[in-house]
Amino acid sequence: MSRIAYVNGRYIPHADAAVHVEDRGYQFADGVYEVVLVYHGAMVDEIPHLDRLDRSLGELRIAAPMSRPALRSVMRELLRRNRIGTGLIYMQVTRGVARRDHPFPKHARPALVLTAKRIALPAAATIENGVKVISIRDIRWERCDIKTVALLPNVLGKQQAKEAGAYEAWQVDDDGLVTEGTSTNAWIVTREGELVTRSANAAILNGITRLTLLKLAEREKLKFVERSFTVDEAKQAREAFISSATSFVTPVTQIDDVVIGNGKAGSVGLGLRQAYLDYAAGEGRTS
Ligand code: PDD
Repeated sequence: MSRIAYVNGRYIPHADAAVHVEDRGYQFADGVYEVVLVYHGAMVDEIPHLDRLDRSLGELRIAAPMSRPALRSVMRELLRRNRIGTGLIYMQVTRGVARRDHPFPKHARPALVLTAKRIALPAAATIENGVKVISIRDIRWERCDIKTVALLPNVLGKQQAKEAGAYEAWQVDDDGLVTEGTSTNAWIVTREGELVTRSANAAILNGITRLTLLKLAEREKLKFVERSFTVDEAKQAREAFISSATSFVTPVTQIDDVVIGNGKAGSVGLGLRQAYLDYAAGEGRTS
């Protein structure tokens, strides 16, 4: 008997079950899920699982894709169609399909996927003998150097920026030091005219634009240093800007309530932006 999945209103063969490539779950991990045990023909702790699903959705401000009674009947229908005696129901809700952009899309409809599978209970010997675990450092998620699609914190940060009337949010670590923007690297130019950006370790994504800008800064004999800086230092800086493949070099003229420099783009940032655009039109190109 072939497995059946539920995808956005339709029961379809599991092998054909698919979501769009621009589903925000796929693009940003912008979604939530639940797994419910089915034991001898009945769901276990169905209501607490649905309560947690509602809570998770609420925390991310994703609308429920359907009412609870409707969802409960989909779950039952899926179990019936898959003839699950003992198994699992997997449910996933994402913010839906939208053109890729970090902030919450205005018009996306939440996407709902359910799958069900049978499971075999472990052999008696496995339980009797127990299993082994290893201990590892909890790194969730301290590997910002990896350009992973697990971008949910970045999405929430960008949305917070948008709602505050800002273009970007500079994220700050436990020591009060700026790490990076939610989709950009962060730079300042100190009062002494020194260009500063955080050195690349696991705390930031080592932007390709960042690396090119460092190369261009060196070539233009700008004074620069890779080191961390606090928000306060940034607020007192002569200039600030952000860099990424999508924003090139974009001057920052306000951080929180503080105007940077004279409130206009600074000369170092503008110079680097031009140098980057020249590079993009010339030696940076591949054909
Ligand atoms: N973001 N830091 C983060 C967290 C980023 O997501 C990005 C890029 C950068 C800058 O990297 P680069 O210079 O290689 O673009 C730094 C892309 C543009 C995005 O997610 O849309």
